Amino acid sequence: MADGGVNHEKGSARAPGPTLHEQLLADPTRPPWPLLVEAPAYLGDDDISYSVYTSEEHFRAEFDHMWSKTWQWACHVEHIPETGDYYVYDVGPHSALIVRGEDGAINAFYNACMHRGTQLRPPGSCGFANQLKCPFHGWTWSLDGELVDLPDRWDFPHVGDDTHRLPRLPVAVFSGFVWINFDPDAEPLSSYVGVLADHFTEFGFEDRYIETHVRKKLPCNWKAAIEAFLEAYHVRETHASGQLGDEVTTQYDVFPPNVSRFIHTIALDSPQRPAPRTEEEIFANMLRGVPVESRPKLPDGMRARDAWAKIVQRDMSSRYGHDFTHLSESITLDSIEYFLFPNAFFFPGLSLPMVYRFRPDADDIDVSWFDLLILRPRPAHGEVPPPPEVIELDVDDSYTVASGLGPLGRVYDQDTSNMKAQTRGFRSSRKKGQTLGNYQEVRARHLQQRVREHLRAGGFTADPT
Ligand code: FES
Ligand SMILES: [Fe+2]
Repeated sequence: MADGGVNHEKGSARAPGPTLHEQLLADPTRPPWPLLVEAPAYLGDDDISYSVYTSEEHFRAEFDHMWSKTWQWACHVEHIPETGDYYVYDVGPHSALIVRGEDGAINAFYNACMHRGTQLRPPGSCGFANQLKCPFHGWTWSLDGELVDLPDRWDFPHVGDDTHRLPRLPVAVFSGFVWINFDPDAEPLSSYVGVLADHFTEFGFEDRYIETHVRKKLPCNWKAAIEAFLEAYHVRETHASGQLGDEVTTQYDVFPPNVSRFIHTIALDSPQRPAPRTEEEIFANMLRGVPVESRPKLPDGMRARDAWAKIVQRDMSSRYGHDFTHLSESITLDSIEYFLFPNAFFFPGLSLPMVYRFRPDADDIDVSWFDLLILRPRPAHGEVPPPPEVIELDVDDSYTVASGLGPLGRVYDQDTSNMKAQTRGFRSSRKKGQTLGNYQEVRARHLQQRVREHLRAGGFTADPT
């Protein structure tokens, strides 16, 4: 149904102007094939009840039926490079002890003693151990989970090596990260990741190292935190003062059941601006962080996007010792963001190379934890730096104090202030649910629907939507 040139057919409306797909095809360099795939989805337009953020029953049901059944990355392979290296991954009441075994393979165990349940290693810890010894009575397991020492064994004739080895949980390596699932009957990660298995072959995540790792406590429910990053609709208002605010062409995709994506252009003009900008103006905007005296001139006849991509490629080539000058403008510049349900984001772009992970706080429904990693290409020569210390930020700490984020620090701060206001509004609103855009906010609906499917499969049906 058309009205004044606006298409109101549900789910089919798009912003005026060229699509992102058309813009990518207009670039001088063809992007990797996954960026040319389009997978729009219309998933309905009912309001999402605020109770999914505020109900304690819902919060606990998520731990019981969703976090216990889904694949999550626990650490990077470089966190546990040698036999005996371990890393503890926790989400709510669930805890996994990930260990590099004697044969170099990665094992994952439920982090609880087979004697009286004590956690073998503290939450969030990592380190090295020859054996896994419980701090309470000293029962000890090998790195492969075999019970190798039981003090006063004479008192435990009912304990056998078979009955009391450490139970394993599913573990797999993908894109340079170690993934676990607390469900012993989980489907393989290789099928869970869906299209990522093919798309990520183009991006070389396993050839990157962690340059920066920030962990921030966020003042909102984990779903609201994730949703703040699933759409670019907020960019024009929330990030109006920065470079991000000038681009609005975004493509949103859903690849059921577990993957969604957006691709958001950089250094192109917005058809929604009342007066179009010149290429010189767009170029000047991209150069704002460069000292005036060293700003290059836009070559005659060249688009700002193409010139800026060349500058970024040359800079990255000299910093990381690889030749990036053959890369497409899109993979060099654009904000390309894959989401794998329930909590992982991967950005394959050269200049926006982030990985995110969000987790609920174990006790507070209005608190979540955000791991923000910057990945870089492994240097062509020389040592790969080991994973850096985590920069811990409390709820009121600004991202700008974290070195390594550069101008992105301010952008993330702007997102955080929305989270506080939204969380208060969940409870002060007269209207009891949020209304989502059919296209630009479809990924938030996808997240909500996946959570609901897990809760319903687990028998939890108290959510009213
Ligand atoms: S609880 Fe672990 S040895 Fe006793
Ligand atoms: Fe944002």
